[in-house]
Amino acid sequence: MASAFAPGKCILFGEHAVVFGHPAVAVAIDQGVEVSISESPSWMLEGSPFEPSRHPHISHIIQNVFGYDGHPLNIEVKSELFSAAGMGSSAALSNAFGAALHAFLDPSEPLVPIELAKMAHSAEATAQKGRASPTDTATSALGGFVVVSGGRVEGTRHVFDTSLVTPEGKRDWSVNAVDVPESIGDAWLVLGFTGEGSPTGRMVAKVAKLVSSVPERMMDLEAIANITNAGLTALSAGNLEALGIAMDACHERLRSLEVSNHKLERLVEASRPHSLGAKLTGAGGGGCMVALTDNPSRVSEAIEVAGGKPLASKLGASGVTITGE
Ligand code: PMV
Repeated sequence: MASAFAPGKCILFGEHAVVFGHPAVAVAIDQGVEVSISESPSWMLEGSPFEPSRHPHISHIIQNVFGYDGHPLNIEVKSELFSAAGMGSSAALSNAFGAALHAFLDPSEPLVPIELAKMAHSAEATAQKGRASPTDTATSALGGFVVVSGGRVEGTRHVFDTSLVTPEGKRDWSVNAVDVPESIGDAWLVLGFTGEGSPTGRMVAKVAKLVSSVPERMMDLEAIANITNAGLTALSAGNLEALGIAMDACHERLRSLEVSNHKLERLVEASRPHSLGAKLTGAGGGGCMVALTDNPSRVSEAIEVAGGKPLASKLGASGVTITGE
């Protein structure tokens, strides 16, 4: 038997602007996915026979990464994440499964988070018709604060480069980490799920159309890039007030790009009186918002009263871990 836990994530800064080559900052959260595997008389997933075609992330890792053709396995998955909510649940599943299988097959060999991030990214790409950014998989594997960009980002620590051949051509990314003072771990993030899925592809297409028909909206993407830089400076200095102000400013620009909606606005407004900053996170159009606060129970209550589902996490959770061998 072997088991591993991998965290989910949320985007703090740079969503949508990252599609235009600017950096995005994501952070690992306390909630995630735990996978346990053990030998079994037949292949099983969550108590039912395992059908590889219905679980492309898992089958890619079994067949293409490990080339595993040993004894059948029983796979158990426990997830604390809302799916299709921009929380990186499929990346966390890929990381947790890859780490658990690694520990199962080779318990004496230490886990290398960068290798795991690359493996999980290839699983996401296989499952998503060759299109996947490394943001979710890298944040879940490495933990902490991760900056993904087309090039190196000043004020961050370079971790690895990666690329993918997509149907639109080859894409290259630089994956970087932000080193933060320990005191930042006293703050909390509260995510509020609207209860509706976040249609990433549709929202990316909507922004592309808006920017081509109203070229002034390009200014919002450039403003988000500047806000991301200010957010990175605030994070590195452990300046929570400045971090919250940057989150509020990012939300205004995302509203201007028309990716917020009524439910997201309600949850952001409800959180603000008890928060240092609040914004929608990820693609928008549904999914989640996130608030930075030192009073997570008040913010969670406010989100619940406004009709959302709250999840509170310390700011900057750890990456993937082996939880049993
Ligand atoms: O909602 P998420 O976490 O999948 O984030 C989407 C982020 C976008 O910038 C809108 C799209 C992208 O591919 O980066």
